[in-house]
Amino acid sequence: MKAADLSDHRIATRAAWAPLLFQAAKTARDLGLLTALVDGPKTPAEVSAKTKCSLYAARVLLEGCEVLELVKLEPNDRFSLTAAGELVRTDEMTRVNMNFTHDVCYQGAFYLRESLEQGKPAGLHHTFGAQWPTIYPALTHLPEPAKTSWFAFDHFYSDPVFRLAIAAIANSGAKTVLDVGGNTGRFAVQAAKSLKVTVLDFAEQLSVARENARQAGVELSTHPIDLLDHSQPFPRPFDAVWMSQLVDCFPEADIVGLMKRARSALAPNGRLFVNEPLVDRQPQDVARFNVQATSLYFSCMANGTSRMYHSRELIDCARAAELRFIEERRVGAWHTLLVFGL
Ligand SMILES: C[S@@+](CC[C@H](N)C(=O)[O-])C[C@H]1O[C@@H](n2cnc3c(N)ncnc32)[C@H](O)[C@@H]1O
Repeated sequence: MKAADLSDHRIATRAAWAPLLFQAAKTARDLGLLTALVDGPKTPAEVSAKTKCSLYAARVLLEGCEVLELVKLEPNDRFSLTAAGELVRTDEMTRVNMNFTHDVCYQGAFYLRESLEQGKPAGLHHTFGAQWPTIYPALTHLPEPAKTSWFAFDHFYSDPVFRLAIAAIANSGAKTVLDVGGNTGRFAVQAAKSLKVTVLDFAEQLSVARENARQAGVELSTHPIDLLDHSQPFPRPFDAVWMSQLVDCFPEADIVGLMKRARSALAPNGRLFVNEPLVDRQPQDVARFNVQATSLYFSCMANGTSRMYHSRELIDCARAAELRFIEERRVGAWHTLLVFGL
């Protein structure tokens, strides 16, 4: 290893102060400090006047954002907005990630070590209640803004995939689909326009899915289930079983159990479609950063046992479930569709 230089100290120092700087960036976004710089560089006093923040608040937030390179210090104590600062202000992915980190994960992240040592979501227990075995039965009971930020995060990543996935499922000749972990029915409502769809999830999620289907004027079958109870078979038979952003909610032993139940639910020429943002299939480092950071949410908030997976790991789980890997295809910016058959 080479001797650390100043740039290495910079990286280490960012890690050391990351939680405080995160709060500075989010507060500067929410209080309008970044927006105050859109029409040109300003002093802390000018930003204070424009935002109704105290001069003290404007200065500490601007200097915190300068460390993060969201703003740049110009001559005469003026701060300008950088292109990265503009992303924090306006980019949808950054907004969704920041709100999710803040509203769902931030307080629970303090218990990451406890979560990992116990293999339990200690952050969830300390933050949202010790009665929940995982975050999933808690979803519709989360306090605001955690609930809105959780669903916005989930939908932001999976929504763009659905149209392409429905086409892939229809092209396989499928007429019937079992949507495992279908959540509030965002995929199912779209798919039900051309396919016969049955959704499996917790009863609370399914009642939201049924209401969404009613509003969209489509028919859905719903089947409440605890997916972790592997003694409960899936209904059958289906031409396609769809698992979207689902297997990352489970450790590998449970994924194998879910895939075995999916195999039993397939008609003879049926296919299992697994849609995931795989660690090793991301188009660039920012996308991979998002995926690997999301694993830490699973550790401290979701269940203490799952994570984002590499393609090989899921193909191995499917093999253990006696499913045959058929193909993979890219869907949307971050996701891969893994297709398996009997
Ligand atoms: C990350 S969401 C994915 C939702 C959707 N498929 C998508 O692509 O956006 C995972 C879903 O699995 C459900 N789920 C997780 N664990 C479950 C369990 N033990 N029993 C029933 N449903 C579960 C959750 O309620 C949630 O709706």
